[in-house]
Amino acid sequence: MEEQLVFSKNKSEANDQQLDLERIPNHIAIIMDGNGRWAQKRHLPRVAGHKQGMQTVKKVTIAASDLGVKVLSLYAFSTENWKRPSSEVNYLMQLPIRFFSTFVPDLVKHNVKVAVMGDITKLPEQTQKAVKDAIADTADCNGMILNFALNYGSRDEITRAMKKIGQAVKDGQIDPMTIDEQMLSQHMMSAQLGEYADPDLLIRTSGEERISNFMLWQIAYSELEFVPEHWPDFDGESLKTAIIEFQGRHRRFGGLKNQ
Ligand code: FPP
Repeated sequence: MEEQLVFSKNKSEANDQQLDLERIPNHIAIIMDGNGRWAQKRHLPRVAGHKQGMQTVKKVTIAASDLGVKVLSLYAFSTENWKRPSSEVNYLMQLPIRFFSTFVPDLVKHNVKVAVMGDITKLPEQTQKAVKDAIADTADCNGMILNFALNYGSRDEITRAMKKIGQAVKDGQIDPMTIDEQMLSQHMMSAQLGEYADPDLLIRTSGEERISNFMLWQIAYSELEFVPEHWPDFDGESLKTAIIEFQGRHRRFGGLKNQ
């Protein structure tokens, strides 16, 4: 135990020495994976991993806000997650209720504004209410945006954007020749994030190296990091380590290194 504490302290000190606070990524997106495996390793039901994962969301939100991150996007429930056993889906649907009922005062204290991407009309009434209340209760906050992807899928998002643009073309409001990347971006669910719509850094926990239908349009030039920890084991120090790795990368956006 003592050894573990010393290790954590050393890790924290090493991180603080290496981290460049002037170059914190504006938008960090996270695919929070590994809750089930975290629980199974401990002979606990899968939902225990989700419960612990919710605590990690709290820790990482505060850590990101303290570091000056502008947007933290978290993949909480995908359009494909409905395929899970109904008991697990039901549990996941309760989590936003539990999360916001205890955490909104902390969010307000840290000036964090809640936003959501995804079709929340398909969520249970109570869950929708919890999400809408959290958005309303943090509407005046102007610090970090905590952007939850709930019943979100990137292909669904792009399809909806295309439908809207197609309809506008049909109605004679848009000349198809004027459709450009900016117009598509403005029709994505991330448009509400303004200049920070595109993540600078995308992290996936638990060692899986997939994107799983998350922000496909927006991550065209994001730095990707696949880290081994399961989501419940991820914390503020893990976030700092990931940012240090990000700061060591050379982002060229298709240009040359020294341009
Ligand atoms: C993936 O792990 C995780 C999810 C599908 C759910 C993520 C949800 C949380 C972390 C809690 C969200 C909290 C709020 C406040 C909404 P998995 O179950 O696929 O893990 P596995 O790959 O090990 O099975």
